[in-house]
Amino acid sequence: MYTTKNISLKLYHSFASNETTSDFSIITSQNDIVAISNWSKQNDKPLLILGSGSNVLFTKHFDGMVAKMELMGIKKISETPSEVVLEVGAGENWHYFVCYCVQKGWGGIENLSLIPGTVGASPIQNIGAYGAEAKDTIKNVIAYDTINEKWEIFTNQACNFGYRSSLFKSEKNRYIISHVHFTLQKQPTLKTDYGVIREVLHERNIKNPSLVDISNAIIQIRSEKLPDPKKMGNAGSFFKNPIISIDQFEQLKTEFPNMIAYPITDTTYKLAAGWLIEACGWKGIRNGNVGCYAKQALVIVSYGIESGKEVYEFSESIIQSVIKKFGITLEREVNVIN
Ligand code: FAD
Ligand code: EPU
Repeated sequence: MYTTKNISLKLYHSFASNETTSDFSIITSQNDIVAISNWSKQNDKPLLILGSGSNVLFTKHFDGMVAKMELMGIKKISETPSEVVLEVGAGENWHYFVCYCVQKGWGGIENLSLIPGTVGASPIQNIGAYGAEAKDTIKNVIAYDTINEKWEIFTNQACNFGYRSSLFKSEKNRYIISHVHFTLQKQPTLKTDYGVIREVLHERNIKNPSLVDISNAIIQIRSEKLPDPKKMGNAGSFFKNPIISIDQFEQLKTEFPNMIAYPITDTTYKLAAGWLIEACGWKGIRNGNVGCYAKQALVIVSYGIESGKEVYEFSESIIQSVIKKFGITLEREVNVIN
């Protein structure tokens, strides 16, 4: 296993701030996972698994082991006339995996095109976009339990998936995911409910879309709306969309009739955090090296930060102003490392 000491993490995460780590390694096998977990215990130092760093915010020097996941491989493990089950290494690039399935004509994850990151991170926050979530196709997750020191296979149900959440996110840093099993459909039902997908298909005069058409439409939508982390540091949506009770929703709706919200259950509503932040006047605002993205207020961008602390403080100001105006506390989606 490759290991080194005292390096900058700048190249390993999408906010590209300059925090350092005392120890760094690259994982390419299940044996490496066990070894790195043992190292962390023997040296009494924390361990942080990093995929491609597109949903983390470092705020200071990390005195421990940052282990970058590069365990690769895509393998078919079963097939029926209607489905195929694939085992995918945690280090595979997510968008590469989506394109691989789309090209083969296997449906289920095409709406998740262009989400940055690794396959191993996809169950952590149950990545989602444009009417699909990773949980819709994940069959099993194979992970090493660093507390009980054993490998486990989690079924979809055992993963306890929710909106941007899972067992792996709530039991922070306990499990190291080595592989994910996905069930893909050979005769997929395409998900075109999101209005903007239909608009793009219409613009392109596509009446009977294929998986490739859906994937290309999503790539277009995302490229127009979200900043490219290679050009401008960011981690996608910085906050989750808050879920509130119907009573609170009705109260707020009286005061803010334009507020954007979607019913989730009979008793809850999800609010568009981007709208709340914009309504507080943050959209397009820059403060030093940090700003609220001009095309999407839910995204915080870097104009060349030295430390993620600057982003954290900016995000705290947003949280406080949303509390003041709406009485709602936004929760950070990004994993803050402190
Ligand atoms: P990292 O950022 O490296 O890690 C994220 C967390 O997972 C960390 O806590 C890390 O310790 C843990 N982790 C990573 N790999 C493993 C592993 N193998 N085992 C155990 N723990 C692990 N997300 C969405 O859901 N929907 C979107 O539409 C979306 N759009 C985005 C757009 C942009 C421009 C950006 C920058 C981000 C976006 N994101 C989105 C967030 C991000 O892409 C996802 O959270 C992605 O899954 C992160 O993958 P990663 O490999 O970069 O994970
Ligand atoms: N909106 C505003 N102002 C803004 C931004 C959004 O009013 O500045 C409104 C939009 O007009 C729209 C609503 O808010 O009516 C929702 O906006 P959008 O469709 O852009 O989606 P989102 O809720 O802001 C979520 C996910 C994204 C995902 C998109 C598409 C979360 C936290 N974010 O964003 O995921 O790509 O939907 O499905 O759920 C991520 O998690 O990092 C991420 C980018």
